[in-house]
Amino acid sequence: VTAPFPAAVIIGAGGGIGGALVTALPKRSDHDMIHALSRQIVVDAPPGVRRGVIDVTDEETIRQAAAAVEGPVNLVIVATGMLHEAGRGPERALRDLDPAALARIFAVNTIGPALVLKHFAPLLSRDRRSVFALLSARVGSISDNRSGGWYGYRASKAALNMIVRSAAIELSRSRPQSICVGIHPGTVDTGLSKPFQANVPADKLFTPEYAAEQLLQVIHGLATGDTGNCFGWDGKVIEP
Ligand SMILES: NC(=O)c1ccc[n+]([C@@H]2O[C@H](COP(=O)([O-])OP(=O)(O)OC[C@H]3O[C@@H](n4cnc5c(N)ncnc54)[C@H](OP(=O)(O)O)[C@@H]3O)[C@@H](O)[C@H]2O)c1
Repeated sequence: VTAPFPAAVIIGAGGGIGGALVTALPKRSDHDMIHALSRQIVVDAPPGVRRGVIDVTDEETIRQAAAAVEGPVNLVIVATGMLHEAGRGPERALRDLDPAALARIFAVNTIGPALVLKHFAPLLSRDRRSVFALLSARVGSISDNRSGGWYGYRASKAALNMIVRSAAIELSRSRPQSICVGIHPGTVDTGLSKPFQANVPADKLFTPEYAAEQLLQVIHGLATGDTGNCFGWDGKVIEP
């Protein structure tokens, strides 16, 4: 007997937005099982949520996490990411570039999500609509970059958007109803944005709960023709 409603997977469940997604998804859920994966097991998870371990910078943990999920899956949300390391802000100028810091931000923001696609895409339903959504950022848009700076974060998200586009094309061949997108959640009150909230107007700083609802609404509204694009929290395409 096949599950009437396939499973959903949230990766980065320990983060601000990932945690809010774990709370919000079961309320509007048509999934038989929701997997909440994070480096450390999340403490608060509603009933019906199965918790597990993953570190996107360690491929073996990604492989094992995917092996522990019983497919088919029709929703994967990757909510991991970093802006900069503790004790080091985002680069404001070329003189701030540090090769080791750049390698780490690419490992977390680009290579990690790519490896999540590698191991979790095979679990996607072949015969029904599925969404693979990866949290990106508007600042990863090359055409939108008018203020410069934030080299590592911008470049790692621009590269993520390219990974998304290639994966979308590949997936649509074996799974014609699959939709693979990047989504920008808006500026959200989480640990990631804390140091940069001072200049954000109050009505432009979303709670994680609001951001999670918006993300689920965008995901709900996506059509097959949307695959490969990056969307804003308002459902509008962000040009590359
Ligand atoms: N907050 C904003 O204003 C904003 C704006 C634009 C885009 N975004 C994007 O939204 C996503 C979620 O961000 P958030 O605001 O929820 O940030 P957050 O609260 O800092 O959560 C990010 C999560 O990413 C994972 N992560 C971070 N550093 C890692 C590392 N070195 N190695 C492995 N995993 C690591 C962790 O997941 P686990 O704890 O589950 O392991 C962490 O909890 C990110 O992709 C971010 O770029 C956020």
